[in-house]
Amino acid sequence: MRYFGPEFLQRVSDSLNIADVIGSYIPLKKKGNRYWACCPFHHEKTPSFSVSPDKGLYYCFGCHAAGNVFTFVQKMENLSFPEAVEHLAEMAHIELPEEQVSEEDRKKQSEITAMYEAARLASDYFHNCLTKTRMGEAGLAYFRKRHLSAETIEAFKLGFAPPAWDRLFHDFTQKKNFAPKTLVDAGLVGYSNGRYFDMFRNRCMFPILNLKGKPVAFGGRVLDDSKPKYLNSPETPIFNKRRLLFALYQALPRIRETRQVIMVEGYMDAISLHAHGVTNVVASLGTAFTIEQARLLKRYADEVVFSYDMDAAGQNATRRALEIAETVGLRIRVARVGEGKDPDEFVNLHGGDAYLEAVRQAQPAMDYLLASLLRQYDATSLEGQQHILQEMFAVLTAREDSFLINSYIRKMARAMRVDEGLIRSEATRYVSRNRPGIYISPREPVKEAESRESQKQVRLEEGFLAYCLLYHTFPSAWPEMKDFPYASPFCQRLAEAIRAVETEGQTLTEKAVQQKLGPEDVEALAALLMKDDYAGTIPWEEFVRPLKLGYLQKEYKRHTEKAGELSQEQPEAAREEMLACIRLSREIRELQKKTSG
Ligand code: CTP
Ligand code: MN
Repeated sequence: MRYFGPEFLQRVSDSLNIADVIGSYIPLKKKGNRYWACCPFHHEKTPSFSVSPDKGLYYCFGCHAAGNVFTFVQKMENLSFPEAVEHLAEMAHIELPEEQVSEEDRKKQSEITAMYEAARLASDYFHNCLTKTRMGEAGLAYFRKRHLSAETIEAFKLGFAPPAWDRLFHDFTQKKNFAPKTLVDAGLVGYSNGRYFDMFRNRCMFPILNLKGKPVAFGGRVLDDSKPKYLNSPETPIFNKRRLLFALYQALPRIRETRQVIMVEGYMDAISLHAHGVTNVVASLGTAFTIEQARLLKRYADEVVFSYDMDAAGQNATRRALEIAETVGLRIRVARVGEGKDPDEFVNLHGGDAYLEAVRQAQPAMDYLLASLLRQYDATSLEGQQHILQEMFAVLTAREDSFLINSYIRKMARAMRVDEGLIRSEATRYVSRNRPGIYISPREPVKEAESRESQKQVRLEEGFLAYCLLYHTFPSAWPEMKDFPYASPFCQRLAEAIRAVETEGQTLTEKAVQQKLGPEDVEALAALLMKDDYAGTIPWEEFVRPLKLGYLQKEYKRHTEKAGELSQEQPEAAREEMLACIRLSREIRELQKKTSG
C-alpha cells in the first residue's frame, strides 16, 4: 500500500475546501459559518449533517459520523486511505510525490496489462464463436432454449467456448503472440502432464466485468446435465471474487437511480431479470455474499433486496448474507418468489412486473429471519429458543447499534410467546460475551430516568471540554474541575489529556490534545469540536455549576440512602452519613448562590 507523509496530506487538505468537496456529493445549505445537509451515511429526512470549513471537519448529529475530507471521500467512494488521498490530490491538481518504482513492480504491471488484454480478447473470441461460427450453434440453441434474445446476448456479450482441447491456447499463442504463462495466469489455460489445455471447453460463456466494464473472468455453463454445471475462472491478479459481483457493471446506472440492489444467486437469474427490464440486479459469483461485496454495494445503494432460491440452501445463504449486509449498514429485505422457483423461471413465467411486485412486497430482514427461524426451530422448547435467539442476536448486533436490538426484543417476545424480561436477560448475556459495546435497556422506568440524568451530565461534560478546546484557554473555573469525576470515559481521557498539556506548559490547541489521545479517540474528538460555537457562553454558569451541582446532588442521594440502610443496625455509621448529607446540602446551597467570577 502506498504511503503519504503528513506534509503531503496537509498540502492536499489545505488546498481544498471541505465544503466544496462534500458539496460535490450532496447539496449543502449554508447557515452561519456551517453548512448543512441530510447525512449521506444514514437515512434521514431533516438535515443533521454539518460541515465546518474553518475546521476542515464534518459531523453528523444523527449518526455521529465524523471526520475530515479524506475520511469523507474514503467512505463515500469506498476507497482505501491512500486511494482517497490520490483522488483528492487529483481534485486539487497536486502532483503525487515521485513513487519509487522498482524493476520488479514494472514487470508485474506489464504482466497485469497482458492479462487484461488476454481476458478482453478471450471475451471477443467466445462471443464471436457463439454468434458468428458453426461451432457456436449449439450454444446459440441453448441460449434460445433459455429465452434469451440476440439483444440480451449482445448486452452481456455472452459467448461459447469451442469443444476442442486447446483451440484458444493455439490461436492466442500462435496468432496473437501471447506467452503461455500469461494465459495460465489469467485463468484461461491450464497446464498438466506437459500439455496446455483450454480451461473452458464446450460451454456457454458468461463474461464477468470489473467496475470499469473490462472483462476479468468467466463463468462457463455446460449445455446438458453434466457436472460441474458451472465452471468459474480462478482468482487471478485481475479477478478477486470477493470484491466483484456479476452484472454489477450493467446494473450500476439503475442502482444509482433507485439506490436499491436486487441480489440473486445465479448468472441466469440476473440476465433474465435484466432482459425483462429489471436492471438493478446483480448475482453473487458462485460464492457466499462477502463483506467486501456489501461495502461495494453500500457505495451506490441504501437497500439490498435478497432474492435467493427458496430452497434450504438458499435460505441458509440468505441468513448469512443478512448479517453481512447489516454490518455495513445496508437496509435489507428478502423477496420470495413462489416455492421451488428461482427468479429466472419466475420472470419467464410471470414477467417483469410480477417480479417487481414481489420485490415491493419483500419482507424486512429481521421479520424474514425471525419467521424462518420459527419455521426451523421449536420455539416452545428451551433448546429451540436458544437457537432462535442466538441467530437473531448475531444479526441484530452486527452493526453495534444498541437501538436495533432493543427495539426488536418486544417483537421477538411476542412472536416466540416468551417473557420479554427473559429475552432481555439473554440479550444482556449475549452482548456481554460478544458485543460489549452494546447496551441492553432493562426497561425499568427508574433506571431510564437515571440514564437520562447521566446523558445530561455527559452533554455538560462535553460542552465544558469543547469550550476549553475551541477557545484555546483554561477558563477561570478550570482549577475547580481538577478532580472532577467525569461520567463519560472519553471525557475523562480528554480531561486528562488537557491536564497533561497544562502541566507541560504547552498552549492548549486541538493538535496538542490530539497528540495525547489514542487513535481510538480521534473520531470522538472531531465530533466534539464540531458540536457548537459557544459564542457568548459563560462556562461557569453553563457547564461548571450544573456539573458540580449534579455531582453533589448525586452524592447527597447516595449518602441519604446509605443512612437509611444503616439506621437500624449501625446507628453510629448512619449518623456519619447524615452529617455528610448536611455538609453536602450546605455546599449545594452555596453553589446555587454563587455567581461566576
Ligand atoms: N454455481 C457455480 N458452480 C456450480 C454450480 C453453481 O459456480 N457448480 C454458481 C453459478 O454462479 C450459478 C449459481 O451458483 O449461477 C447458482 O447455481 P444453481 O442455482 O445451481 O444454478 P442456476 O443459477 O439455477 O443455473 P441454471 O439456471 O443455469 O441451471
Ligand atoms: Mn436456474
